[in-house]
Amino acid sequence: MKIFITKSILPSGITLLKEQGHTVEVYEENTPISKETLYEKAKTSDALITMLSNQIDREFIKENNHLKVIANYAVGFNNIDVEAATEHGIKVGNTPDVLTEATADMALALLMDVSRKTSESFQSIKDGHWTGWEPKGFLGQSLRGKTLGIFGAGRIGQCFANTCRLAFGMNVIYCARTEKDNFQATKVSFEDLLDQSDVISVHCDLNNETKELFDIEAFKKMKETSIFINTSRGQVHNEADLELALREKIIWGAGLDVTNPEPMNPKSKILELPNITITPHIGSATITAREEMSLLVATNILNGLNGEELKAGVN
Ligand code: DGY
Repeated sequence: MKIFITKSILPSGITLLKEQGHTVEVYEENTPISKETLYEKAKTSDALITMLSNQIDREFIKENNHLKVIANYAVGFNNIDVEAATEHGIKVGNTPDVLTEATADMALALLMDVSRKTSESFQSIKDGHWTGWEPKGFLGQSLRGKTLGIFGAGRIGQCFANTCRLAFGMNVIYCARTEKDNFQATKVSFEDLLDQSDVISVHCDLNNETKELFDIEAFKKMKETSIFINTSRGQVHNEADLELALREKIIWGAGLDVTNPEPMNPKSKILELPNITITPHIGSATITAREEMSLLVATNILNGLNGEELKAGVN
């Protein structure tokens, strides 16, 4: 069978697919694959390994309903019309669990960076502004004993919360659709999360309910000293509103691993602000996580081609 991969990934999964006798073609360009090329490659493939940046919509599924499996190289699968895939008998897989710790650690890296102004102060050295020790320079926020608000308490949100509780003795509250067992945290309403949290960290799926939920009205309900972290999907926040909230000091700081839109415009005004750190959607980017993701997408493909349940299936 032929498997097409829309970007070059770490080799463990490719090796596994080839060992099973399959033909693997990888799109090796640095630039994202165009819609036309993706359609052309899909036409002659039995299965696809896709990236979160590939729009696998209803039209694409209809045109390529010969596909047996689509394995997304991400835990989030909002880029795929799963309903349409199910209607056409195409199995869809994702990569849960293997990237939980990597992504939770990224949220922590952003939180530490913003709360202690490491990027901002490093930039000041590069700009030649370090003239001597400053008793009032770069004063940050201590995290000890503060309240952490988790929005979307799935695997990644809980992992991040547990790390923060152990590291800083943070009191954890969360807002989620369902009550979580074995999670040492208090479930609260969205309004209470905004009102009580010193740090809000977003870990939810992107869907109609969460799209641009963090807008200016939400930021206005947060504490002036609060920090907003988003490592899930950029479209959960309204970026113009976040810029306003940071510029007007409605909230204290923000750390984003995801932006709205993605990739972001390098001329975006939000990049001029000192109280934000942004990374280019690298939450799962550890060698360990990315190798395990490679193995998991390959396993999903093999399962689907053999007519079995996917190890990590979403339909
Ligand atoms: C995912 O896999 O959905 C994450 O966004 C990766 O960082």
